[in-house]
Amino acid sequence: MKQEKATVVEHHNFQGEYRILRLAAPVVGPLVKPGQFLELQVPRLDERILRRPFSIYQADAEGVAVLYKAVGRGTEAMAAIQPGDEVDIIGSLGNGYPEADANKTPVLVAGGYGNAALYILAQRMEKTGIAFFGGRSEIDILLVKEFEALGWEVRPTTDDGTLGTKGLVTAAFDPWMKEQEIETLELFVCGPNPMLKAMGDRAIANKFTAWLSLDRNMACGVGACLTCVIKRKTGEGWEWARCCKDGPIFESREILW
Ligand code: FES
Repeated sequence: MKQEKATVVEHHNFQGEYRILRLAAPVVGPLVKPGQFLELQVPRLDERILRRPFSIYQADAEGVAVLYKAVGRGTEAMAAIQPGDEVDIIGSLGNGYPEADANKTPVLVAGGYGNAALYILAQRMEKTGIAFFGGRSEIDILLVKEFEALGWEVRPTTDDGTLGTKGLVTAAFDPWMKEQEIETLELFVCGPNPMLKAMGDRAIANKFTAWLSLDRNMACGVGACLTCVIKRKTGEGWEWARCCKDGPIFESREILW
């Protein structure tokens, strides 16, 4: 984990309410593992306001990029960020996804812009497979072409039926799952908590592996404030685990919902 004054290289609208912020960050960039995140101090916001966590969409030796949804507190200040600005970041944080099991079939499952955090994982995986992306409407399904260019088959679902199968991501996943050798599946999942739980429940019931990126409010991002705790199962019972430091990636069997 390092702190760095990163320079904004690019900041633009990507699709709908989603934007990409690209930073020159030669200290943090090379450290990033898929599934990790960074904490960013939004410039021109009162410095007493906490940093904001962003999952990492791309990273290399030169820097990092985040793909985020422009909603909520701090959005206006974010919108004012221009190329050439300096932003203070801490990263890379959290444990990240484990390396994919070479004997298993990788499956990506994302809700909303959760697939931005899976993109860096897909870029670094040796195998390709199938990806299920869910969103409210066509405008919320991101990066289909980018994943296809890496060799992934993408099956979108939308709540309103404007793209792919109508319904939640499970509407496409469940019929597909029934035709697979289920115990060979290894899922990498990122999105809202109800979707994580739905996929985790399926993993437990059907005895396959599912790595879930837990979505919790985070204040410090470094394990000190305990705003992000979840219940993690232990041999005899459970213990508190911090999403920012012990996660955000947990295997489905670890979590007590
Ligand atoms: Fe502070 Fe996790 S955000 S302990």
